[in-house]
Amino acid sequence: MAYEVTSPGRVNLVGEHTDYTGGYVMPLATNLHTRLVAEPAADVDVYSAALDRRASFSVGDVDRADTWADYVRGVYYVLDREGYAPGGFRGHLDGSLPLGSGLSSSASLELAVLAFLDEAYDLGIDPEEAARLGQRVENEFVGVSCGIMDQFAVGLSRAGHVLHLDTESLEYDQVAFPEDVQVVVFHTGVERELKDSAYNRRRETVERALDRLGRETSKAVTATELASLPARERKRLGFVTRENRRVLRARDALSDGDAARLGDVLVAAHRDIARNFEASCEELDAFVEAALDAGAYGARLTGAGWGGSAVALVDADEGQSFVERVSQRYEERFPDLEPTAHLIRPSAGVTTEHREGLSVPERP
Ligand code: GLA
Repeated sequence: MAYEVTSPGRVNLVGEHTDYTGGYVMPLATNLHTRLVAEPAADVDVYSAALDRRASFSVGDVDRADTWADYVRGVYYVLDREGYAPGGFRGHLDGSLPLGSGLSSSASLELAVLAFLDEAYDLGIDPEEAARLGQRVENEFVGVSCGIMDQFAVGLSRAGHVLHLDTESLEYDQVAFPEDVQVVVFHTGVERELKDSAYNRRRETVERALDRLGRETSKAVTATELASLPARERKRLGFVTRENRRVLRARDALSDGDAARLGDVLVAAHRDIARNFEASCEELDAFVEAALDAGAYGARLTGAGWGGSAVALVDADEGQSFVERVSQRYEERFPDLEPTAHLIRPSAGVTTEHREGLSVPERP
């Protein structure tokens, strides 16, 4: 009898590059998901259908291998450091979540493995701890200094809602997402090759600015403090402080069911991240402009930036025609790129089922 884990991806509506400064974020979990079917075993043997790759290792072997399976190995590494000692598993990974397109497929995989191990070996890990452990897989094992937004959204989202999270206190609430609004995610076809180094550099600059001000969180930074910073730090941290305020405005607009106001916040966020955080690119900017011309309430890059994906909000009954119009215009401008678009439903965080008659698929 095997376990089936359904683990979503995430789209951030607003609150970018705030989660490593104790700021606010407002992501949602996607109906695109990673699926893990697995059963306990002595060692680990896991097959990824999307990559057509298999990885095997023994539970005691937690060295980094510089492959996709580091997200699995890393889970064992952090669990071991926390004193948990789960056994291995035989598993099959597939699902609809595209890999490496800015929808947090890595957080989705980490949380899928954690959820399975928690159930199968009765580890007693609560969802918040799982999110923290997932982040540590990235920080301590894979080597990406990300914040906690992705893992939290993948683990704790609720269907039909967006998550409003304070990344300092980890207090959160779920805000209902209007049924008459469609979330569209558009992958630009630009891989984020520079992402990790640029991401880590931005993080360093913002942390240096906070250190200089003696502040633990970007939420507390005042205009006078900002004005006292060297130009580059002021520019980067200035964006982050305005972004925190935009999350609160977006939350209010959502609570009022006001899609137009919400859209305006997203557009302001995009212009600010492009100009002052310099995390956009020509393709993302072109998508945002095309989306607004095609009647979107708002659009912006989502995730780290420098390529990857953008999000747009449109009327619920216009999703498909919007995608067609915007894709056509985008492809005319960038004929060599292969963009993809998805209509997204705000969905539940990771879930696990233990079902009679379910078995791990045989390897091809
Ligand atoms: C990546 C990171 C997140 C967050 C975003 C930017 O997705 O994994 O933790 O910092 O970038 O908001």
